[in-house]
Amino acid sequence: MSLDVAALRAQFPILTQSVDGKPLVYLDNAATTQKPQIVIDALVDFYTTTNANVHRGAHHLSDEATRRYEGARASVANFINATAREEVIWTSGTTEAINIVANGLGQLLAEGDEVLVTELEHHANLVTWQQACRRAGATLNIVPVFDSGELDIEAFDRLLTANTKMVAFPHVSNALGTVNPIKQLTAKAKAVGAWVLVDGAQGIAHGGVDVQDIGCDFYAFSGHKLFGPTGIGVLWGRKSVLKDWPVWQVGGEMIKDVTYHEATWGELPNRLEAGTPNIAGAIGMGAAVAWFQSLDVAALRRHEKALLDYATKLANDFEGLRIIGTAKEKVGVLSFLLEGSHPADVGFILDRQGVAIRTGDNCAQPLMKRFGIPGTARASFSIYNTLEEVDSLFAALKKAKMMLA
Ligand SMILES: Cc1ncc(COP(=O)(O)O)c(C=O)c1O
Repeated sequence: MSLDVAALRAQFPILTQSVDGKPLVYLDNAATTQKPQIVIDALVDFYTTTNANVHRGAHHLSDEATRRYEGARASVANFINATAREEVIWTSGTTEAINIVANGLGQLLAEGDEVLVTELEHHANLVTWQQACRRAGATLNIVPVFDSGELDIEAFDRLLTANTKMVAFPHVSNALGTVNPIKQLTAKAKAVGAWVLVDGAQGIAHGGVDVQDIGCDFYAFSGHKLFGPTGIGVLWGRKSVLKDWPVWQVGGEMIKDVTYHEATWGELPNRLEAGTPNIAGAIGMGAAVAWFQSLDVAALRRHEKALLDYATKLANDFEGLRIIGTAKEKVGVLSFLLEGSHPADVGFILDRQGVAIRTGDNCAQPLMKRFGIPGTARASFSIYNTLEEVDSLFAALKKAKMMLA
């Protein structure tokens, strides 16, 4: 079955916009995806009909808000094949999810322990572990990548030791689009008894994430990269690990008993969710997940691959354009440089043509340094993009090249 992209696009009101009289060509999906009407409606409906705090009111609105909020948690649990609803911890996004794990780990690490990450990391999955290691006197080791953007698995094997307590890596690189062999890496890490965290910020929107099948201990992702709202995300954790994981944030809702001098923690998921949560965001994310699950994932993947293949072909034919990241396993991310021009200038000229891309270090400064570049221009595709939009990107690039020559 092929994808009816026109019907899909029609569900995204923002995509009908023009920028400076040019149709918007939105190719910044790795930064954030657009939202279908059904998600926008879920947010509006919550605030219009149901707004109340959850878990605490002895009244109808609070009961209804709690039902929707917990229903969304159950939807997310089902989406990623968690074994239980309590394994889904609401966070503000991937960044907070990783911070919860890293701050907890910081309380468990001792001098001489090691944490293993990769050269591909987004700052969210690097600075967090730097800080945890620094506080504990532990060592942070970094798995190198080849020029293609693929991980050096032999180096991974060498750097993984009996002292490795945590291995953290991205499912998909935001900067290069590399899809990592997460099952293989997880199995190796589990063999030395390490915990495994997968940064799923870029992996989740391509469908088919099954946390039990991956075998990791933690999988982190954001709602806004999955057609849901900003300010909401998920830390999935294996129940047996999460139930004793040292808490980071403390306060209301996460406690069991409190005296003026002592406190004990509640059960999962509450023990890792301090304070009033982003209720509307969670409900919106539940709507996004339900919407995404109604789509044909195999057809989505074929469409994304067709977009990437077509863009890669045009990029290879474009004189003076260098693709950064050429892994065999890639999703719809095209990072590139135009010879003799700065990515920021390219992005500015593309914007005048209505084409929205990301430029800069992609929140991966060490990786940019590894490639000896200041940053990239990055076009990232989603399921609602079309081959015609890829043509628009390259027409705009042609103009940029002329203007910057
Ligand atoms: C690979 C990766 N990890 C982590 C993050 C951080 O996500 P957020 O800003 O939603 O917390 C991002 C965001 O771009 C990302 O691409």
